[in-house]
Amino acid sequence: MIQMLSKTPPMGWNSWNTFGGQISDSLLRETADAMVDNGFRDAGYKYVVIDDCWSKLSRDENGRLQADEAKFPKGMRALSDYIHSKDLLFGMYSCAGTRTCAGFPGSFEHEFIDAETFASWGVDFLKYDFCFKPNKADGPLLYKRMGMALRATGREILFSACNWGGDNAETWMRSAGAHMWRSTGDIQDNWNSIKDITMMQLNKECYSATGCFNDMDMLVVGMYGKGNVGFGGCNDEEYKTHFSLWCLFNSPLMIGSDIRNLSKKATEILTNKEVIAINQDEEGRGAYLASNWDNTRYAWVRPLSNGEYAIGYFNFSDTRTDVILPWWDIGLPLHSGYGVALRDVWEHEDIGVFKEGFNKILDPHACAVYRAKIVKI
Ligand code: GLA
Repeated sequence: MIQMLSKTPPMGWNSWNTFGGQISDSLLRETADAMVDNGFRDAGYKYVVIDDCWSKLSRDENGRLQADEAKFPKGMRALSDYIHSKDLLFGMYSCAGTRTCAGFPGSFEHEFIDAETFASWGVDFLKYDFCFKPNKADGPLLYKRMGMALRATGREILFSACNWGGDNAETWMRSAGAHMWRSTGDIQDNWNSIKDITMMQLNKECYSATGCFNDMDMLVVGMYGKGNVGFGGCNDEEYKTHFSLWCLFNSPLMIGSDIRNLSKKATEILTNKEVIAINQDEEGRGAYLASNWDNTRYAWVRPLSNGEYAIGYFNFSDTRTDVILPWWDIGLPLHSGYGVALRDVWEHEDIGVFKEGFNKILDPHACAVYRAKIVKI
């Protein structure tokens, strides 16, 4: 039976951020093992996705894509079977242009045959990039084509569109059949990149919902400056903030670090069930910006399906300071007779009922995230 894909933001792992072109059958198998052994599958991560650089430089005599035998000597079907045997799902990568971003064959004018190939390998997820698009070809039409080609296979394949938000992707990507759409250029493992991607999301909250989510790019949590996009690195506080933002904004959560050797702290961040529950809330609502002081201190608020709210406090400045949020700004009049009960989802702790508002003192680049319940006082 065909089910609705992407009911909640897709969760998984992708090879690009850490490994770039250094991918192989054994890396993918070890990563699948680590997904299970290190608790990621239990936390909800299920897609294991090979990004660019998996194929040969040319198609076979029938025009089909072929795996690079040096990297994947057992072939894609065998790898796919292995990943499925772990109760995980298998993702791959192609491109709407004539070549992928790293220069391997793209799916331009091969959309249907490539979708067939992916389906025959048991692929469950396709990331579809945007490099080398012929100038005269219409970008939106190329995403509609691959969307159709994937549907024509009869296999459930989640369509992860990656045109970096071009052509106002938010306005048409859902209609093209995508289940997630990249809204930005490539993330880097440093604080400025996290901040910039976040600020690019303002006023986009209405374009991310059940069935098709705004993809803020793969996570860099736990990279600490190592790997393909490891330009500078972040500290654990910044990774926690990064993860909180992606969760509040209901972005897909695709881990980009080496989960075979991840720090304890990064593992804790990526598997915090109460924070993930906000991301996976079944109503899939976006967060609105409720407070902005000096363009550095922010609070975002998002209604949840059980009648509660998620509230995130963020200090983007470089000094320790407070983030201020009067409840008036989120809809509660002063004399309503109601207050707000807060539960800290990082600390797993109820911290009390607050009548007029709540302010939080935060270290540079730090955050606090709460579940909030509106209660009579
Ligand atoms: C683009 C995408 C990245 C990654 C690379 C692979 O830059 O945005 O996420 O897939 O291509 O070459």
